[in-house]
Amino acid sequence: MKDSCNFFNLNDKTVIITGGLGQLGLGYIKALQSCGAGIGIFDIKRECEAADILKKQPDIKYYQTDITSRDSLRTSFDAFIQDFKKIDVLINNAALDFPPECLNIKDTMFENLDDKIWDKTFEVNSKGVFLCCQIIGGHMARNTGGSIINISSIYGMVSPDQRIYQKDGEILFYKPVPYGATKSSLYAFTRYLATYWAKKNVRVNILTLGGVFNNQPEYFVHNYCERVPMGRMANVDDYCGAVIFLASRASSYMTGSNLIIDGGLLCW
Ligand SMILES: NC(=O)c1ccc[n+]([C@@H]2O[C@H](COP(=O)([O-])OP(=O)(O)OC[C@H]3O[C@@H](n4cnc5c(N)ncnc54)[C@H](O)[C@@H]3O)[C@@H](O)[C@H]2O)c1
Repeated sequence: MKDSCNFFNLNDKTVIITGGLGQLGLGYIKALQSCGAGIGIFDIKRECEAADILKKQPDIKYYQTDITSRDSLRTSFDAFIQDFKKIDVLINNAALDFPPECLNIKDTMFENLDDKIWDKTFEVNSKGVFLCCQIIGGHMARNTGGSIINISSIYGMVSPDQRIYQKDGEILFYKPVPYGATKSSLYAFTRYLATYWAKKNVRVNILTLGGVFNNQPEYFVHNYCERVPMGRMANVDDYCGAVIFLASRASSYMTGSNLIIDGGLLCW
């Protein structure tokens, strides 16, 4: 127990984070870097959008990757191994969601939902995670093991409360079903791999997150916060500790678990 303060140390660890250029990914990268990790960002966005975070940061590298493509993932992962020599942590963070401003209300109704939205969401949020685990997790299982963190949402566990999209009694949007359905699929997937790779020293856990403040319309923030026992939306920093915990040896006996961080929302 002497070095218990080092439980969260990631000094000799390497991490791949998918969707690392998004709102939450950028926060996780800063936190992981501050604990000493070397980080590979796998994101579909162009490199110029990653320029800021990559400036003078030899321990962070960007690999433009489409996680729905086996070839793209393979190319990026080979380059990552060339650069970092090994992989310890995979964070399956990339996902597609359709927030209110993306669609008009008629298109968001279940009866009208375009099957292209269903397919695209499943392609990124489910198949993308499957391919990342097969290629990157498979490498971990053949070598010295590792930790896989699958990122889910409260909407993988409960249905969205459509009343939070209501302003002055009028519904402005229906949260479409594919997002929650893909996030739900991750629980079975995580439990499967946790048991499948348990003896290979690959731990697979899921992090279930509540809504993050991102300058959403005032009516939405108000309605959402009413649903949260702690009375507020999350900030990116609220989730960094859990990511570091799951990445580090602090969680060494944890696999197949679901860690929920939601300000208490799922208690109601
Ligand atoms: N923001 C929230 O309120 C919230 C709440 C609960 C759970 N989550 C989950 O947290 C994770 C991150 O959310 P976020 O808000 O940062 O999302 P975001 O939209 O800001 O970022 C997602 C990133 O994924 C990338 N991406 C999309 N398709 C890709 C593909 N095919 N290949 C590679 N990269 C791809 C995008 O370029 C983007 O950088 C997601 O899994 C999301 O479901 C977010």
